[in-house]
Amino acid sequence: MVFSELIASLWTQLLVLLRPMLKWILRKVTGKCQLLRITYEEQPGSKQTKRIEKSLRESKSSALKELSRGDRVDVDEAVKNVIHQKDIVVDIHTKFEETLRRCLTYISGFNNLEALVEGHRKVKYSTANPEHEAKLLKLWELYKPGTKLQSRQCAQWGELGFQGNDPATDFRGMGMLGLDQLLYFAEKYGDEALNALSKSSHPKHGFSFAIVGINITELQYTLMTKRKLRTHFYNLHNPRPSMDAYHEVYCYLMSEFTKFWFKEKPKDIMEFSRIREKFRRHIISLLKDPKTTLKTDFQQQ
Ligand SMILES: *[C@@H]1O[C@H](CO)[C@@H](O)[C@H](O)[C@H]1NC(C)=O
Repeated sequence: MVFSELIASLWTQLLVLLRPMLKWILRKVTGKCQLLRITYEEQPGSKQTKRIEKSLRESKSSALKELSRGDRVDVDEAVKNVIHQKDIVVDIHTKFEETLRRCLTYISGFNNLEALVEGHRKVKYSTANPEHEAKLLKLWELYKPGTKLQSRQCAQWGELGFQGNDPATDFRGMGMLGLDQLLYFAEKYGDEALNALSKSSHPKHGFSFAIVGINITELQYTLMTKRKLRTHFYNLHNPRPSMDAYHEVYCYLMSEFTKFWFKEKPKDIMEFSRIREKFRRHIISLLKDPKTTLKTDFQQQ
């Protein structure tokens, strides 16, 4: 290990050891526990919710830790327990209850969404499932209005940016989530989706629309599981986002990626990995601003 790494690692360990003591000192000096201090220090928004979440996660109490990862938290019950456990006088700290309730609702809502997304991703595309097949044909109709598909397996799928004669083989690790997201984009924002497809069809500087679409599903999925998307969801009006709210982020990513791609002036598709990585970093940098929500002007606020 390099010397500087050793120092950094010792420092982290020291902080872990000192943390309970620091918390105890702060509690004595300010007369407030950490959760309570946060409700005074931060305004409602992603920053406050993230700090409450972190404080719960690092708590010694396993019941509090649980609240930071739970996806079906009984918020009223949890609020009562925290107030009791931390001995908070709600008549003095009048905003505490409301703030904690709001933050816990957002945290549990995000964890619930993550579980939903994971559920969809795990469903593999099956040619034996009539529902899956119907969705695939719907995809064709929406992206190729007025053009008849000659047969279920044929080279025409290439016009949508699939790899071979049967799109079923292209969803792989993203499962039905990949198909549902491409569908959602076209169902909800048809003009935008067709516009992105048409731009992507440039013979030299374009990209394979469906393959890239599935790749963006994966990019969003990774941002979700690494909890980077909290900034966006903790800033939304609705603290309990549905799958549609998740797909809305996808529409943003697809539309922004298309613009980003052509701004980069790629020579050909071989530059995909580089541009994807640059785009990913760009999105992560946006999410570092606590005020960020990922919405384009064609999406409702
Ligand atoms: C998306 O593209 C990246 C970069 O080319 C690649 O590493 C990754 O495996 C792709 N993911 C999917 C699901 O296609």
